[in-house]
Amino acid sequence: MSEIIVLTCASGKQCNQIIPALYQEPSIYKLRLVVHSKHSLDRLSKQYPNAEVVQADLDNLDSCGRILHGATTIYYVSPTFSPHEVQYGTNIIDTALSESRKPDSKFLHFIFSSVLHPEISKLLNHDRKRLIEEYLVESSLPYTILQPSHFADNAIGRLLSLRKDPTPDPIFVAAHDPEVSFSFSCVRDHAEASVKVIRERSRHFFATYPLVSTLPMKYSEYVRSIGAVLGKDITVRQLSYEEAVEMYCRLFFGSLDVEQNFRDAVERLLLYYNRRGLVGNPGILEWLLGRPGTTPAQLARLMLQEAEAEIK
Ligand SMILES: NC(=O)c1ccc[n+]([C@@H]2O[C@H](COP(=O)([O-])OP(=O)(O)OC[C@H]3O[C@@H](n4cnc5c(N)ncnc54)[C@H](OP(=O)(O)O)[C@@H]3O)[C@@H](O)[C@H]2O)c1
Repeated sequence: MSEIIVLTCASGKQCNQIIPALYQEPSIYKLRLVVHSKHSLDRLSKQYPNAEVVQADLDNLDSCGRILHGATTIYYVSPTFSPHEVQYGTNIIDTALSESRKPDSKFLHFIFSSVLHPEISKLLNHDRKRLIEEYLVESSLPYTILQPSHFADNAIGRLLSLRKDPTPDPIFVAAHDPEVSFSFSCVRDHAEASVKVIRERSRHFFATYPLVSTLPMKYSEYVRSIGAVLGKDITVRQLSYEEAVEMYCRLFFGSLDVEQNFRDAVERLLLYYNRRGLVGNPGILEWLLGRPGTTPAQLARLMLQEAEAEIK
């Protein structure tokens, strides 16, 4: 009988590239996809008819109990910019512990997709994950922590759409200072590493992996490298801080009408990114995947090839 793998934030960009690899192996894995919204429940139920798609409230221990019941593994992605992240994380860790202590338990592995440098206390979305990591490490559960950086994929749709711009030097609007450097992660690389960790399980017990795809590069260099793929000389225009907060609130929460305790994380992130980026070394990812990480330019080329193949 196939084992149950639970994935949270199943509608998000990370799981979007993890699920297809596991879904192809129904004799090994039965997927339980955890969503928050009704919209995602309907979309994933249609997209993955052989998976179990469940709408759950991570604030509710009964709900957490239902999503972990009978599972061997949880791949835990934490909801974006939520002020309740720590509560959700500790609830799910407590529930996994209870599940692992049942006499007939099948529970074996808690994988937390966290963030690069959770120790950065100036960033709320990092600091909250630091506390979840601490709780997990002390839980006695077999765990693996994966730490991706800022995803190169975040702005790639907007950048690739500039290929249709009639001018040779289109403008890209950046939410933060383009001269600040980042080590980017690529969702594909992160998903491939995640699937490997799920499949290989005990080889990765009690490990924490910083997973970045590139060495530090200026945000403007990231933009220019994708421009070169498109044959465009992209000019970067930086939004004012207030405009950038507005843009991010619309992007992440769908509206400007959002509680201050949700806005806090966005406001601090943009302040931080105007002065400092997230930097790391791609060596661990390279070791895990047996190949170098994907550069933003390679990602752009891959996505253009996929778009062309879809049209044909
Ligand atoms: N973006 C980056 O560059 C980056 C880099 C490193 C780490 N991260 C971390 O990645 C995590 C997000 O993962 P992602 O990028 O794959 O997701 P995403 O594409 O940002 O999608 C957001 C997800 O959050 C879910 N969600 C929202 N509110 C929820 C709630 N109250 N309870 C449960 N789920 C909720 C949504 O589910 P529904 O669709 O059902 O509402 C959706 O699946 C965050 O913790 C973020 O800090 C992001």
